[in-house]
Amino acid sequence: MNRRQELVRQLLLDCRLPAPGQAGEAFAPVNVALAKYWGKRDAELNLPHTDSLSVALPAHGTHTRIVCHAGPDQVWLNGQAQAPGERFAQRLSAFLDLFRSGPEVGFAVDTRNDLPTAAGLASSASGFAALVLALDALAGWQLPRPALSILARLGSGSACRSLHAGFVCWHRGERSDGLDSFAEPLAATWPGLCLGVLPIATTAKPLGSREAMQASVAPGTLYRAWPELLAADLHALREAIATRDFARLGQSAEHNALSMHATMLSAWPPVCYWLPETVAALHRLWQARAAGLAAYATMDAGPNPKLLFLASAASAVRQVFPHLQTFPLFPKE
Ligand code: PMV
Repeated sequence: MNRRQELVRQLLLDCRLPAPGQAGEAFAPVNVALAKYWGKRDAELNLPHTDSLSVALPAHGTHTRIVCHAGPDQVWLNGQAQAPGERFAQRLSAFLDLFRSGPEVGFAVDTRNDLPTAAGLASSASGFAALVLALDALAGWQLPRPALSILARLGSGSACRSLHAGFVCWHRGERSDGLDSFAEPLAATWPGLCLGVLPIATTAKPLGSREAMQASVAPGTLYRAWPELLAADLHALREAIATRDFARLGQSAEHNALSMHATMLSAWPPVCYWLPETVAALHRLWQARAAGLAAYATMDAGPNPKLLFLASAASAVRQVFPHLQTFPLFPKE
């Protein structure tokens, strides 16, 4: 038994593994990190070096229906059947291997991403979270949220945060078996807080986040400064959320995202997700901010900046960025 299987066995304890004929479905939201998960201390169990903090999009994410049967896996993504050899189907089947009672047991998975078009928002986090929730419904486990969060983490690290709505903190944990590394929601809400996505490019990334993280943590990179920077940004973000101090939230999130990209640029060979349009958009943002616009950027492992602003500034932000797609993050109070 490998360490991932051992961890799943500990979480499922007396629960039965899925049996043919059972079915379940679930939804999980997209999450956007304000303090990033960047760098693994254990790549097999997806254990991070640091805590991270995200906010979920309330109505956008992944809907997944899963049926257990006797036969090979079948995967549909956004209504299209995926050949078993395709990367997406392979990644899903490898994850589902953790939950098979025998080699003859297979799953039919129908998964649909309801993401803003061309927004460059990652779907792997909401995808693995929805898959774990659908498995829980299928098998009737009724596992506690921390256990579900740990299972989702095994699919993709950031998926552990997509188990919750609103602001969510992923505790890095201390244990080597990964049982204390899961996400929990913060009690705070922030009506008026908005996320805007700037579609720049949706072409396939040159490098996945797993490889980019690996390159960033190599000796000789700026990564050695990351834990300290992250801790300061995370502390500021928590205080900003508690006091609804928007400038502090925006500054800390932008600082954190740019610092993450700095660790990539310091790798060799360098990793740079930015396109010329990305840099142009950042300069436009900084210029507008110097002229009084209250908006800040965050960026993940891709070229598309996401903007943070308050609903009261939405029309001013759209004047600078006419193609922005805006999403309120919390319901009105
Ligand atoms: O969960 P992964 O392995 O796709 O990594 C996600 C990493 C970032 O999106 C860049 C940051 C984060 O915290 O979501």
